[in-house]
Amino acid sequence: MPIPAQDLLRCPVCAGAWDPWRSSDRFLVCGSGHRFDVARRGYINFLTGRGTRFVPDTADMVSARDRFLTAGHYAPIAGALAEAAAGALVTPTADDGGPRPSVGSLPRAVLDAGAGTGYYLSAVLDRAPGAAAVALDLSPHALRRAAKLPHTAAVVWDLWRTLPLGDASVDAVLDVFAPRNVPEFARVLRPGGLLCVVTPLPEHLAELRGILPLLDVPAGKAEDVAHAAAGAFAVESVRAVRFPLELDAEAAADVALMGPAGHHASRDAVLAGLPGVIPRATAAVELSVLRRR
Ligand SMILES: C[S@@+](CC[C@H](N)C(=O)[O-])C[C@H]1O[C@@H](n2cnc3c(N)ncnc32)[C@H](O)[C@@H]1O
Ligand SMILES: [Zn+2]
Repeated sequence: MPIPAQDLLRCPVCAGAWDPWRSSDRFLVCGSGHRFDVARRGYINFLTGRGTRFVPDTADMVSARDRFLTAGHYAPIAGALAEAAAGALVTPTADDGGPRPSVGSLPRAVLDAGAGTGYYLSAVLDRAPGAAAVALDLSPHALRRAAKLPHTAAVVWDLWRTLPLGDASVDAVLDVFAPRNVPEFARVLRPGGLLCVVTPLPEHLAELRGILPLLDVPAGKAEDVAHAAAGAFAVESVRAVRFPLELDAEAAADVALMGPAGHHASRDAVLAGLPGVIPRATAAVELSVLRRR
């Protein structure tokens, strides 16, 4: 049995395709003999032997993210993203007009860039059953979870390098709170494919900034997406997704510790700094959908 979605992947060393005779469900070997093993936890590490200057999220940070997301606090973001990506991943049928995966041609394909635990990718795949997926992230801890998604190759990779996918190979790219390598997203997307980007708005979690170690959102972050993508993409839609968050102390600690603060702040210290009643907060993000020309 081949590795899920392996046809979407290219050798990260030579960009060659996999040799079907030398590859198996446990490892991939390209035509030039470069070999990559599938880890026991189901992800594949393409960064072997190549240092990267980034520090991946730790197991504790990933656990905080997993708890926070699976509790449903950001479900409205996942819903909006899945609806947007469905535009590229499902084909309405004439009989009932309902969404169906494409039939008769290659299965639809989606790349989640900086997928983390795969929470958003999971929502997208629920809307596009049968679609194949690649989840890229620096964090092996996060990818253990993403590797459990159907038809998904979870690959440890640095988004600032040439992505290990072929030209025009995917129908949609997702980027949620993650680094955006727009030229590479343009290369791997098919003409007409969608780039769906979620960025925080300046007021995102503003009510919690005084009591939690959260980074400020630089002004203009969302506009930067459209600007960086000009040329290769046309802006399809831009919408704000805003909703209230009712968090208890543990969830408030999770939302801080799943971000950069998780690299240096201790959970006890974060919990000790919280007031008895956590203020109601607002989640505010921008969902930009760009169509590959
Ligand atoms: C804020 S998290 C968002 C994760 C996921 N999209 C979500 O919203 O749950 C940012 C993610 O980007 C990953 N990341 C950061 N820099 C990266 C890089 N250079 N290459 C690949 N992944 C990176 C982190 O490991 C982390 O999982
Ligand atoms: Zn190779």
